[in-house]
Amino acid sequence: RHELSGSVSLEELSDIDSPGSVQLVACGTSYHAALYVARLFRARGVPAQAHLASEYVTAPAPFDSDSLLIGITQSGETADTLSALREAQRRGASTLAVTNVVGSTAARECDHVVYIRAGPEIGVAATKTFSSQLATGNLLVERLCASGTKRTSESTRELIPALRDLPNQLQSVIDNSTAKSVVEEYVDYDAYFFIGRGLHRPVALEGALKFKEITYEHAEGFAAGELKHGPLALVTQRTPIFAVVTGNGERAQKTISNIKEVQARDAPVVAVTDEQSEVRRYANYTLEIPQTHPRIAPVLANTQLQLVAYHMADRMNRSIDKPRNLAKSVTVE
Ligand code: M6R
Repeated sequence: RHELSGSVSLEELSDIDSPGSVQLVACGTSYHAALYVARLFRARGVPAQAHLASEYVTAPAPFDSDSLLIGITQSGETADTLSALREAQRRGASTLAVTNVVGSTAARECDHVVYIRAGPEIGVAATKTFSSQLATGNLLVERLCASGTKRTSESTRELIPALRDLPNQLQSVIDNSTAKSVVEEYVDYDAYFFIGRGLHRPVALEGALKFKEITYEHAEGFAAGELKHGPLALVTQRTPIFAVVTGNGERAQKTISNIKEVQARDAPVVAVTDEQSEVRRYANYTLEIPQTHPRIAPVLANTQLQLVAYHMADRMNRSIDKPRNLAKSVTVE
């Protein structure tokens, strides 16, 4: 039905107007999803900014009467995110929760709610809920930015089939990933860096967060273009670089240039990539993802990086479902 109409309707959002601008607040993995969703809004011409919820409360960004404040929170109970949403509400903002837990505090307190419907997530590290946040973010942007223009409906028509294919493609990534043998090459290295550009930057940040959470190894994610502005000083032959590069456009070419920079410092490179990219010529190993819509490729790439973290943690006998020092829901600021 969606393919025919070229528009998305979300049953929870029957009574919401298209916002003039959007601010997103979130923490941890949900913040990475917020960075991704903010880019989707901006690509549709809607000003949007993602904020770390804990920082937002110290200096809330100004908003207009048609601004929408979106809180992304898997649990719906994260204290920092709730504080940011409450502060925005106190100042008169319209609020929307994107959450997994029906009846959670965020769902109850916000003016609007959209559920990601990922099912209960037992492990402390957010995994399937991140994928669902990205998928839901796409639907949300289609719904809220639906202006009825030709461009809008064409974009939606291409996106919906890609979202429909996503479960099968995710399964094929899980079934065919070579992450286990790749990480075997890099056990006990000094540090692990993750780079990506554009929509792949949140994936790089998330790849590093997942890796450090469950392996306890030092990992950092960077915008690919930022490497040469400082982090390059850390790069050695003992610091594998996981680079997310798909397609063969200008962005991919620029990330490949960044890869050449780290290779000149003898760093091993693992590329998470699709068949279109020529990055394989420069990488020591590749982790393949199927061809899809450019907005969906980050979801598949992220799954490869989740498998990298999982297999490394498994290899190191870490407590994967319950990493040390971490709680599933962080209810203190
Ligand atoms: O429930 P929330 O999405 O609000 O939780 C936010 C973060 O605490 C959470 O994503 C955390 O970073 C996870 N441990 C990530 O795996």
